[in-house]
Amino acid sequence: MRRLLLHEVEQGMVIGEDIYNNFDVMVVASGSVINESIMDLLDKMDVFDVAIYEKSIEGKKKVLKVDNTVQATYKDTVTSFKNLFNNVKFGKQVVADEISDLLTPMLEQVKNNQILAKSLWQIEACDEYTYDHSVTVSMSAALLGKWLNLPQDTINDLATAGLLHDIGKCNIPDEILKKPDRLTEEEFKVMKTHSTLGYLLLKNGKGFSDEILYGVYQHHEKFDGNGYPNRLREDEIHQFGRIIAVADVYSAMTSNRVYRSKMSPFQVARLIMEYSFGYLDPVAVNVFLSNISNFYVGTTVKLNNGTIGEVVMVNKAEPYRPLVKVDDAFVDLAKDHSLEITALID
Ligand SMILES: [Fe+2]
Ligand SMILES: [Fe+2]
Repeated sequence: MRRLLLHEVEQGMVIGEDIYNNFDVMVVASGSVINESIMDLLDKMDVFDVAIYEKSIEGKKKVLKVDNTVQATYKDTVTSFKNLFNNVKFGKQVVADEISDLLTPMLEQVKNNQILAKSLWQIEACDEYTYDHSVTVSMSAALLGKWLNLPQDTINDLATAGLLHDIGKCNIPDEILKKPDRLTEEEFKVMKTHSTLGYLLLKNGKGFSDEILYGVYQHHEKFDGNGYPNRLREDEIHQFGRIIAVADVYSAMTSNRVYRSKMSPFQVARLIMEYSFGYLDPVAVNVFLSNISNFYVGTTVKLNNGTIGEVVMVNKAEPYRPLVKVDDAFVDLAKDHSLEITALID
């Protein structure tokens, strides 16, 4: 890695570290290949110098390799969690130190790998839903903690709470947990006990902080007071509960193959924003979605009117409606609501 003055930077080079604007919002992610619109953006931002990977081609390869590392780390974490889940099911005590060990490789990725947020979307599920879901919630919660500028210890605890948020499901009978059809009202009542069951498992476990307990216990509380088990609202819900709730919804939506194959990340972001209105913490949702959307600056996209353009800037208030450059014109999706991004183009 070396630092270059802005006038020395050329298209095709690979950015070596995240670039933030004056509002502390990341505008270009490390690993991005510099193209015309990134050049434009850097000019406008008064950036003085930029960290660049030593060789562009090498840098490019590195980026792809990182994705493989993420996938491999992810897979190992899912396997370890599956073992843990099944041991707890048969009565083993949950121990905080064991969870930290299990999460260390993944947390290293969250800490050091700036394109992880993009990988989160691309990650391939490798086991039954509950196992994959627990790991993606853990990663998303840790990322959100990072973007909220929380201290590393808190981020680690968020990862733990995320991984264990549905651990109570190990005490839900398989007929209900794995039922392919819609649950009856009675069955749904049983299913809903999983957050309390999880809380009790951790309370009887070893070494879990109160924050982690709150995160697990309250992850189905809703901002408007219509959640369970205690119908808490807004600030009554612990920050951990609110963060895990955002990660939970994001994981559920992005793991759905139908959404993944038919929608762009921007469409999913809009859906989450609309779906979560009044129900998830609006600040947490916004920080999460605007940071994720920022990773797509510089990406070529297709709009629903068939035109091809490039994402040049993310609008903080509506992160799913960025500014797109089509030929020489700028199309602001925040102003023209009839337009949306339907696909990403490699
Ligand atoms: Fe849950
Ligand atoms: Fe969940």
